[in-house]
Amino acid sequence: MIRNFVHFQEMEYITHKLFYVVLLCLLFLSPPFVSSQLNYKFYDSSCPNLSKIVQQGVRSAIANDSRIAASLLRLHFHDCFVNGCDASILLDDTSTLKGEKNALPNKDSVRGYEVIDKIKLALEEACPCTVSCTDILTLAATSAVYFSGGPYWPVALGRRDGTTASEDAANDDLPSPFEPLENITAKFAAKGLNLRDVVVLSGAHTIGFAQCFTFKTRLFNFSDSGKPDPVLDTSLLTKLQNVCPNQADSDTKLAPLDPVTSNRFDNVYFKRLVNKSGLLQSDQVLMGDSTTASMVISYSRFPNLFNKDFGASMVKMANIGVLTGQNGQIRKNCWVVN
Ligand code: HEM
Ligand SMILES: *[C@@H]1O[C@H](CO)[C@@H](O)[C@H](O)[C@H]1NC(C)=O
Ligand SMILES: *[C@@H]1O[C@H](CO)[C@@H](O)[C@H](O)[C@H]1NC(C)=O
Ligand SMILES: *[C@@H]1O[C@H](CO)[C@@H](O)[C@H](O)[C@H]1NC(C)=O
Ligand SMILES: *[C@@H]1O[C@H](CO)[C@@H](O)[C@H](O)[C@H]1NC(C)=O
Ligand SMILES: *[C@@H]1O[C@H](CO)[C@@H](O)[C@H](O)[C@H]1NC(C)=O
Repeated sequence: MIRNFVHFQEMEYITHKLFYVVLLCLLFLSPPFVSSQLNYKFYDSSCPNLSKIVQQGVRSAIANDSRIAASLLRLHFHDCFVNGCDASILLDDTSTLKGEKNALPNKDSVRGYEVIDKIKLALEEACPCTVSCTDILTLAATSAVYFSGGPYWPVALGRRDGTTASEDAANDDLPSPFEPLENITAKFAAKGLNLRDVVVLSGAHTIGFAQCFTFKTRLFNFSDSGKPDPVLDTSLLTKLQNVCPNQADSDTKLAPLDPVTSNRFDNVYFKRLVNKSGLLQSDQVLMGDSTTASMVISYSRFPNLFNKDFGASMVKMANIGVLTGQNGQIRKNCWVVN
């Protein structure tokens, strides 16, 4: 009886707290005019310390775990390709919502959720109910590249968070490392991105790691031939076979996408493709088509060209299907809809 009573009071307290938080955000979020376009000064008056807070969050996350820069970049990509950049990837499953965290390309693979939460917490202190989770993802990806030695590009802000997510869309729309270039290109085209964007953005694989199961067929049984991928450089093949022996228990072992400079955002990824040393099949196929191969070769030679084009393609990606103006909401907690 007493236990139940206490429990009831707790529940009531939590309900109240949630109610106030949402009410607070509704009050904050009903300004007479909300810009219906992204712009560079969106939070200048409402959250002047925004970029400082995000940069600090990303910098300390990298200091703790150098791989996290890559993970944050991929998190933004997986947000934007599924129902647009709306932070749908951050929503947890509920009884009425099957979210994206458990979709095949994301489960036990996407990382960095806690970093976004930490930054959101700091932002709710500094400027409550103001900054969307998807703008945090966008800014965090930008900082992650910059702090890894890559280019800086300014990003327009004012994206708003979605109120739904889709496991099916995540399974359907995200590219797989096992599909042919035409299929990957079609998935990019469906998001308004062209063949050059496919090549340039694949350059993100200059940082970070992949699990053995994402490239293992290349090492032992390429296209069911019973032999390794003939395109793979033979000394790299031997190394990878040691990291990923032909047994199921090696499936989740990790190999760097760019083993020469795995934490440095540079153009070595493209040099490696020219050398037949791309890790994923979807990386190396960029050399199997004359149009994409000539782009790869030019990025392998001209790092500044890669930097410039990468920023431009990232801006395109960050604009996919964004919610602005009165659409969507500013989530109080990135894991749940208000
Ligand atoms: C072109 C189609 C693409 C395919 C097929 C693909 C596939 C993959 C796969 C299979 C992994 C390893 C995941 C794991 O083992 O858990 C990976 C990692 C990664 N991807 Fe992609 N990807 C693509 C495009 C992109 C794009 C456009 C970006 C960002 C702009 C990106 C950024 C990354 C990063 C940074 C990692 C390393 C993540 C980490 O270490 O946590 N990828 N990708
Ligand atoms: C921004 O941060 C500085 C110090 O980091 C602090 O003094 C200032 O009050 C903050 N401004 C706002 C508007 O939060
Ligand atoms: C440091 O990184 C590890 C590995 O990603 C993570 O489990 C841990 O939570 C991080 N710690 C902090 C304080 O961010
Ligand atoms: C590539 O796309 C075609 C047409 O949509 C589809 O039939 C095929 O299964 C896809 N291939 C792979 C390996 O996903
Ligand atoms: C390669 O894969 C095919 C299809 O899964 C299988 O029939 C064959 O036995 C495999 N060969 C080797 C050498 O593992
Ligand atoms: C590419 O191969 C050449 C010749 O084997 C080698 O000298 C060079 O270091 C390789 N480049 C990269 C980025 O691995």
